[in-house]
Amino acid sequence: MDDNIKLPLIGDPAPAFKAKTTQGDINFPEDYKGKWVILFSHPADFTPVCTTEFMTFASMQEEFRSLNTELVGLSIDSMYAHIAWLRTIKEKIEWNGHKDLEVNFPVIEDISMNVAKLFGMVQPNVSTTQAVRAVFIIDPAGIVRLIMYYPASTGRNMQEIKRAVLAMQKADKESIATPANWQPGEDVIVPPPGSCGAAKERVEQHGDDVYCLDWFLCFRREK
Ligand code: BEZ
Repeated sequence: MDDNIKLPLIGDPAPAFKAKTTQGDINFPEDYKGKWVILFSHPADFTPVCTTEFMTFASMQEEFRSLNTELVGLSIDSMYAHIAWLRTIKEKIEWNGHKDLEVNFPVIEDISMNVAKLFGMVQPNVSTTQAVRAVFIIDPAGIVRLIMYYPASTGRNMQEIKRAVLAMQKADKESIATPANWQPGEDVIVPPPGSCGAAKERVEQHGDDVYCLDWFLCFRREK
């Protein structure tokens, strides 16, 4: 593997970089302090799956903003390619109920691959010149909290990305965890007890808002 390709891990500080984007220069993660960020890469401009992903993300930008979450895209393409592709999307592409869609979130120009390599977005067994579909969800303190990698042939599920942001925000705020397939409004998991006494007490004495399937699996009712 190229020695310059790094792979940040969950819990690591997001690697810092400065870059040119379609919305001006950014200093990352400094400029995003206090916000959640979805930093994502796509293989190339003017490609079909990427176009559907961009249209879907652009249509959800305000929804993400309402969750204190900003989108930042990246591909190993020039600014000219980004601008031309985003104009084409706005002026010509109608898909899945979306038309005249403006991509207002920044898209990083990364011809040098500096940023892509910092985030392990270039995976040489796939391509040495295109990024894979990576998603890094970075929290308001600049810590990497979730990583997804998809191959070029598979478009990502933006509803799942939003669900993951909501789940992490709730977990941070309420010290709970969320079960498989959790959706907002559904019951959440309270953390396992740290001692035998606490386990017994919890199973026997929990209030009406908590129900246990066993000592290690207790849920808090949300409705
Ligand atoms: C696409 O976005 O459609 C795509 C990009 C790179 C390789 C294959 C498909």
